[in-house]
Amino acid sequence: MNNYKIIHGDCLKYLSREKIPQGVDLTFLDPPFNQDKEYNSWNDNLPEDKYWQMMKDVCKDVFGITSNGGAIYFMQREKNTEFVLECLRETGWSLQNLIIWKKKTSAVPCTNKLGKHYQVIGFATKGNRPRVFNRLRIFPPLPPNYKYERENGVYLTDVWDDIRELTSGYFAGDEAIRKENGERFHKQQSPIALLLRIILSSTKIGDTVLDPFAGTGTALVVAEQLGRKSIGIEIDLDNVRGIKHRLAEMSGADNALRFYKEYIYTENLKEIWYVDSVFSVPKKKEELKLFKL
Ligand SMILES: C[S@@+](CC[C@H](N)C(=O)[O-])C[C@H]1O[C@@H](n2cnc3c(N)ncnc32)[C@H](O)[C@@H]1O
Repeated sequence: MNNYKIIHGDCLKYLSREKIPQGVDLTFLDPPFNQDKEYNSWNDNLPEDKYWQMMKDVCKDVFGITSNGGAIYFMQREKNTEFVLECLRETGWSLQNLIIWKKKTSAVPCTNKLGKHYQVIGFATKGNRPRVFNRLRIFPPLPPNYKYERENGVYLTDVWDDIRELTSGYFAGDEAIRKENGERFHKQQSPIALLLRIILSSTKIGDTVLDPFAGTGTALVVAEQLGRKSIGIEIDLDNVRGIKHRLAEMSGADNALRFYKEYIYTENLKEIWYVDSVFSVPKKKEELKLFKL
């Protein structure tokens, strides 16, 4: 399948019915966090009020092109939680969950307060009732004081502590895109596992996923594999080229199927996970047994 569209430019110029007439069902919002990081085409050190006004404009415009009951997942640093909630509320969204993503990496140490160990993701919908919400079941790691694994997993909650952030260094593994000199291509590349969870939770096959701050295009890479349509907007031309290349190549490290067995006890998994696309389901007999297909 080839159901994606990549737009080069400032997302605020494209978030309208004229530019995106088909509308969207799910938006992943992972903007630069305004913490003076190095970006080629973006000033990551805007005055606070200007930055949050821009985020409100984005949330409002996305709301306008979203189907009734469609979803937004707005990711930010924990210190900005109140602004995320305000942005969503003031632009018409109905909050469903404030997800805590505890990123499996070391906490950021602080001298006069507690070390920081999570990021927030505001999950909200257009109207109180989501048009799609798939109750995923996962296998969380067994807590140290527990002896037995649960037989058939547990329903996903609003604390996500089983997805590792792609930090620099070898922990980022094969999934982190690198330049020839070994440096990360984009330091804010989101993990496949994160987008997989979001897209599986809030869309059906054939729905449209939007990422207005596409970066390396992780949302498009996952949407494509799951049989969803996708639109990515990215202001930096190098990143746009990177997204096109990533989608054309679809490296093994981007294969979402490696997470299939983590969701195996989700009741409607076969209905929501399109497997006959870029990668195929594991074919060896032992693997099939492992995946319990
Ligand atoms: C935090 S990164 C997103 C990373 C992405 N989730 C991924 O998986 O790679 C934010 C991206 O937004 C882009 N950006 C900044 N301002 C933008 C704008 N006004 N319109 C579109 N893209 C923008 C930056 O160039 C950067 O690549």
